[in-house]
Amino acid sequence: MSVNALRQYLEFLKNSGIKELYLPESNNQKRLNELQHQYSNCTKCSLSQSRHNFVYGEGNPNALAMLIGEGPGEQEDKTGRPFVGAAGQLLEKMLAAINLKRSDVYIANIVKCRPPGNRNPEADERRACLPYLLEQIQIIQPKLLLLLGLVSAQTLLNNNNTLGWHRGKIHYFMDIPALVTYHPSALLRNPEWKKPAWVDLQEFQKEYEKLRLETVR
Ligand code: URA
Ligand code: SF4
Repeated sequence: MSVNALRQYLEFLKNSGIKELYLPESNNQKRLNELQHQYSNCTKCSLSQSRHNFVYGEGNPNALAMLIGEGPGEQEDKTGRPFVGAAGQLLEKMLAAINLKRSDVYIANIVKCRPPGNRNPEADERRACLPYLLEQIQIIQPKLLLLLGLVSAQTLLNNNNTLGWHRGKIHYFMDIPALVTYHPSALLRNPEWKKPAWVDLQEFQKEYEKLRLETVR
């Protein structure tokens, strides 16, 4: 259905006195819940030995955009939710600056268990965990990706290039356009990078708004 047709239909319902729509839990949400449960005791890599909680991901199961970080930190490991610590708070502010809430997008990580002391996840750990993310992407079918930081970019775009090389261009992952920006944790350590990060976010917003106008979800 086109955006205009949907608008007309909703207007018609409103004029007929129907004030609320009943939206059943989406199939995507149901499937994601099942998979989260199914994988929650995963032992495919050694990160399983030190984790407290498996952090699958969360957000809009029909999101137009997915944000992909590196892996859970301390707060995420404690709560089982992605981006809830200091980096998460900054991420929420960044989203708010482009009129998005975290519930508009879907947020996940390359690895689902916390690397001890927040070290970078090793190649074998990323490889072991990647199928879970690929499955999430296949279910949600996002039209745009925002890769947060070098680990996310290098893993999904399969290269060893610098963050500077990745920024400012549209990449493709499984045919989905992907933009790369600084990881919010890096921005907390290096506030001078916030300005270039804002440039990236505006680019993301531009692409997102284009998609929003042409897609009904
Ligand atoms: N950093 C990440 O990369 N992911 C999180 O979920 C939290 C912090
Ligand atoms: Fe399994 Fe991924 Fe956790 Fe490794 S990081 S144990 S592959 S869920």
